[in-house]
Amino acid sequence: MSQTEVQSAFAEEKLGWNGYVEWESYPEKKALATKILKQQKFTPIPEFQFVPLPSTNPILIGYRWKEYHEALGLKSIVDFSWKTVLEEKPDLLHVLDFPYNGETTREQLLLGKITDNKYHFVRNHGGMPDIQEDVFELEIGGLVNESVKLSLKDLKDPAKFPQVEVTVTLQCSGTRRVEQIVQYPGDGDELINAPWGEGAIGTAVYRGVPLKKVLKLACGGVDPECQHLEFIGADTYFKKNNVFNYAVSVPWRKVRNNEEVILAWEMNGKPLPKSHGAPLRVVVTGYIGARSCKWVYRINALREPSMGPVQAQEYLYYTSQIGKQNTKYSNGFSIQQMPVSSAIISPKDRQVIEHDGKITLKGWAYSGGGNWVERVEVSPDGGSVWYAVDQENMTEKHYHAWRLWTIDIPVDAEGWLEFCVRTWDSSNNTEPTFVRSAWNWDLHVTSSCHRIKLYSVNRTRPATMARLKELEARGEGIEPLSHPLEYQLERTEEYLENCRKYPREPLN
Ligand code: MTE
Repeated sequence: MSQTEVQSAFAEEKLGWNGYVEWESYPEKKALATKILKQQKFTPIPEFQFVPLPSTNPILIGYRWKEYHEALGLKSIVDFSWKTVLEEKPDLLHVLDFPYNGETTREQLLLGKITDNKYHFVRNHGGMPDIQEDVFELEIGGLVNESVKLSLKDLKDPAKFPQVEVTVTLQCSGTRRVEQIVQYPGDGDELINAPWGEGAIGTAVYRGVPLKKVLKLACGGVDPECQHLEFIGADTYFKKNNVFNYAVSVPWRKVRNNEEVILAWEMNGKPLPKSHGAPLRVVVTGYIGARSCKWVYRINALREPSMGPVQAQEYLYYTSQIGKQNTKYSNGFSIQQMPVSSAIISPKDRQVIEHDGKITLKGWAYSGGGNWVERVEVSPDGGSVWYAVDQENMTEKHYHAWRLWTIDIPVDAEGWLEFCVRTWDSSNNTEPTFVRSAWNWDLHVTSSCHRIKLYSVNRTRPATMARLKELEARGEGIEPLSHPLEYQLERTEEYLENCRKYPREPLN
């Protein structure tokens, strides 16, 4: 097929819906795409688990995914996505350039309880569509009393649907994945499962309408057999030479809780940014971020969960021993609700801290599944002694959002110390002690206590203070730790005096 024939075979159909190709309604179009993809070779995914991550920004480049799009004449989607990143998310840590995965930096995470839209992390499985609000329509069908099409104007009309504002933390189930990778490399997906640090999490106030109300008021309710609601997003997704629109589902019992599944068009008082799913997205509270479908244009009421690969073949929690030789889609359980987890955001791992007997630590704590954060505890000795964060040093409680915390920990010891954090939620759940305890083959939900190593320099100790003053007088510092001091550590007379007082060898 010529390039022009390819382009017309997979052309966009709807005016004002740029970057959206409908796949799910056209099996023959999908088959043609598979035929084309099978004829080509694509750049293999980069090895990033057995080797150190590059220190570039973007860290990883999605050559394979770009080539998939180009093979189907969809290069404009790749270009538009990166343009949008530069406009909406220039200051994130770009973990993968395409499909775009961008992480909130430590400094940005600590700016406040609500994450500014500019700094909220982004996780994409494909390119970003560019859909105009005035032509947008949401279709709802399947096991409902009446299938409907709703414009955004309809959805936003408070006379038709009651609106809600909900403060929600969205967390990617891959948050803190690097800690698992460092221990043991795990499954490598064709779509790079991003090597996230602590910043694939963010909190925003979303405005929209509860899906339950829309199903009731617009569709006259769901049929008794309806058990799951499937969400289809307008982005294109590839897996093993097949092409799809992004599709996931949540159980009907979740949707029945009024404010737990909403169709949102506003984020922090502003129109939903393109990178977060404009003009309309689903927000599912307490579940892994993957279920909060962006660019949602179709909702299907189903008997069984979605067969879309993101739902049926990914985000599965395998036992640690299963390995590549035994994995099937059906033997990992589907991760829906997020467990309790937390992270120390400041200081950062391996930092040298000069202090006067106390070290200040800051971080986030979150629990999903309808639980909220009750208590955060920090240990300065790897997990034997725990200090609880004062309530006044935590942001307020929310049903569906994190709490940021700060604590001053008494520290006498010097040298390398291991700090860790654990959180207790409203159901008395807490976090496994070590990464190994919850390591899983697909490297999801790193919920174990977050650990960092700090090098403590306690200025309240006279000898330490004297050395620091000496260094200061010489215009030097203690860092880098691994470099020797240029001058003699002790005068010869002092050395002899000390060694004669406490001889190195026994005298008899
Ligand atoms: N929806 C669509 N249509 N396409 C996607 O790739 N990614 C999901 C979810 N919704 C995704 C999507 C994943 S894995 C996560 S973690 C969240 O969106 C991230 O939401 P955010 O990018 O708005 O932070």
